[in-house]
This record gives sequence, C-alpha cells and structure tokens, in this order.
Amino acid sequence: MADYEKYKNKERKTNHMNISISGTGYVGLIQGVGLAKLGNKVICIDIDNEKVQKINRKEAPIYEKGLSALLKQTVGKNLKATTNLKKAILSTNITFVCVGTPSMVYGRIKLHEMERICHDVGEILKEKKTKHVVVIKSTVLPGTTESTVIPNLENASGKKFGKDFGVVMNPEFLREGSALEDFFHPDRIVLGSSDPRSIAAVKQIYSKFKCPIIETKFKEAEMIKYAANSMLATKISFINEVGNICKRMGIDTNTVARGIGLDYRIGPQFLVSGIGFGGSCFPKDVLALVHKSLELGYHPRILRAVLDVNKDQPLRFLDLVEESLGGLKGKRIAILGLTFKAGTDDVRESASLSIIKEFIMQQAKLYIYDPMGMPPVKTLFPHLNYMKNAQEAVDQSEIVCILTEWPEFKALNYGTKMVIDGKNIFDSDRRPQNYQGICW
Ligand code: UDX
Repeated sequence: MADYEKYKNKERKTNHMNISISGTGYVGLIQGVGLAKLGNKVICIDIDNEKVQKINRKEAPIYEKGLSALLKQTVGKNLKATTNLKKAILSTNITFVCVGTPSMVYGRIKLHEMERICHDVGEILKEKKTKHVVVIKSTVLPGTTESTVIPNLENASGKKFGKDFGVVMNPEFLREGSALEDFFHPDRIVLGSSDPRSIAAVKQIYSKFKCPIIETKFKEAEMIKYAANSMLATKISFINEVGNICKRMGIDTNTVARGIGLDYRIGPQFLVSGIGFGGSCFPKDVLALVHKSLELGYHPRILRAVLDVNKDQPLRFLDLVEESLGGLKGKRIAILGLTFKAGTDDVRESASLSIIKEFIMQQAKLYIYDPMGMPPVKTLFPHLNYMKNAQEAVDQSEIVCILTEWPEFKALNYGTKMVIDGKNIFDSDRRPQNYQGICW
C-alpha cells in the first residue's frame, strides 16, 4: 500500500480550507489532489477546457503513480476542475499559482503566464470582501514575487499587499514518478513572505505535516528552489565526471559512488552516473540561475561546468556506440527508453532525444521502444520504427542502447548482442554477456 494511502478514511483534525489552484500542470494537479486528499475543498483552474473535462471525468491528464486512484477518490467529492477563474477565486480563501515558467533563449524564464494570472486574480480581488492569500508555487527567479507578482496583483485590484491580501512564495520539490509520495512526505516546507499573517494562513494548510517548516523572505524562498536543484544537478555532473575518469582507468564508478555515498556528509543519493540529467527542472533551473548570475556580473563557474558536463554525456554515449560498431551509417540500433527517467511519460530535455537526433543525422536505422514515452516522440519523429515491445526492438537490432531505467529492460533476452547502458540498470552480476556502461 502506498504511503499516502494511510491518509485514507482518516479523520483529519485540521480546519479544512477552501483552496483554488491555478494551473493544472504537473505541480498544480499534484498539489490539488494532495490537498483534496487531506480533506480540503479544492477547485483546480485551467484555461484548457479539454484538460478540465478530463479531470472532472476522473481521468489523469498525465501519467503519475497513484494519481488516477486519488482523482477517483476526490473528484466529485471535494475536488473539481473549472475554467472559471472568477467563481473559483470568489469561493475560496487561498489560491496556489502553479502556472508554467518555461525557458527562453539563454535561460531567461518567460513570465507572461504568471503576469496574466496575477493580473486576472487581481481584477477578481477587487470584488472580494474577505482577505485572500495568493501562494506562488511556480518556479521563479529570486526577486520575481516582489517585482512582478505583487505589483500585478496590486495594480489590477487597487488593493495593498499585506493590508488587503496576502502573498507567500512556497516552492515545490516534487520528483516526477514519486510526486504524490513527495507531496505527503516532504523533507521540508518553505514559506517565504514579508507578511507574517500570510505565512500563518498557509502554515495552517500544512499543519499536519511532520517536517520542518522554514519561514523566509520572498527572495530566500525563491533561491532555495534554484539552489536545491543546482546542488542535485551538481552531484550528478560530479559523479559523471568522476565516472568519465574511472572508465578510462578501468574502475567501476558504481563501487566508487557507493564508497563515497556512505560518508554521511556526501550521502548516497544522486550519485548514479549515466547519460546526464533531463526533465523539466534541472536543465532549465540551472541555466536560469547561470543567466541571472551573469546578468549580475558574476561568472558562475561551477554551474557552467555542471551544464557542460551534462551536455557532453550523450556525446560520450554516442562515441561508445560508434566505436563498438565502427561507424553508424545504416547500422541497426535498438533504442530502449525515451523518457528522461522511469515512472513518467515526460520526455522534456531527455538525453535519449539528443542521442536519437544524432543517430538520425548519421543515418542509423533505429528500433525504438518505451513503455510510456512513445506518443509524444511519435509527434516529433513520426517516421521512425516504433516497436510493440522491448524484446522486438532488441531482436531487430545489432546493438542495444539503454537510455531510460525502466525495470522491464533488465529482464530481456539480449543474447550475445552488444548492450550499451546509459542508465546503469543492471546489478554487476546480472549484466548481459556483451556489455558496456557509459561510466563503468
Ligand atoms: C527534480 C527534483 O528532484 C525535484 O525536487 C524538483 O522539484 C523537480 O526536479 P525530477 O526532474 O522529477 O525532479 O527528477 P529527478 O529524480 O530529480 O531526476 C532528474 C534527472 O536526473 C533525471 O534525468 C534522472 O535520470 C537524473 N539523475 C538523477 C541521474 O542521472 N543520476 C542520479 O543519481 C539521479
């Protein structure tokens, strides 16, 4: 039974609140079902009517472990979705803003959705008699809540932050694939604001959580998110760099990672070497922090190196395949894995896609399989060979590339085919006969 299931049928002693969530992407939807599961009355708002209908039909618009089950339990009871922002704001006391802040060139983040939503919420607050608290969950660079969020809310509402409405910056730390577990069992909750009453209101929502709640200034809360992701990304690029050296010396990086990870000052997490980090957060957030830092006249050497190492890992993988085959043109290559990690259907910034693009350029013949990630990739590359299952991809090919750590890839019959592993999926005594790892 999943951990969050222990909340099932439990009497909650907190004062349940009326909460609206603007943006039903990854963060907003998990926040919405999580808060509904805790007994709050939640309205999820999105401009995408199709998505709203889907949620109201209790169907998950994204794949995430446990999400479908929780939608079934909460929708129609204390969770609903709507496109009507006004009704949702007027009937709730707290609104979480979970809109996207995508990257532009040079890592700048786009704030147009954030500006639009703050303006629209502000207009509605004009009519609101009771005090409302706006909670920013979207990842925004330090300073954004004060320079963009509050002025937009104040201008559109004609009201004053602190006196008439509250604002809190509450970053999220959810990992795709275990987002609900992370929601119910956070390591810490960060609440940033210059208004203690706003913080007190949001603290109430999280009163049943056992973890430390850190109260900070706005900018500190914003920076904690960037610094946390940059630290984790640094650990990955660090172990990849160590791995690149180990590989040249015939040393198994996994043993080295275990040996250093047992030092409690280092810790074992995020020391799995491979083709590098992808996803919607690490590449974008580290780049945005680099850009911000350069703007401020500081050259962030470590963060630049983290990105450089990460960019090079797929090239190292390609080199291994090319060396093993003696060229790529016309070669039959199995691609096992498209998503940036297992447990998700998300292919954003996936290293697998950079590798595939290069194989296509070199005119290799690809046989592709991923249990979750094929639909989005088919729209990008419609003319490639997508296989019904992983074994079929292996059987058609002369070399196999493992690019996502889906557990099912461990149990295939690889025979004597060369397998190049970019995700470190096998225990050292269970590796295929003809096998190479990217850093081991
Ligand atoms: C991350 C953060 O962990 C989360 O706190 C934040 O809120 C959002 O970004 P996520 O992107 O879902 O979460 O995935 P995560 O598990 O952190 O992995 C990110 C990438 O790093 C993946 O491509 C993964 O394969 C890679 N990774 C992770 C490694 O290469 N080695 C590791 O040891 C760990």
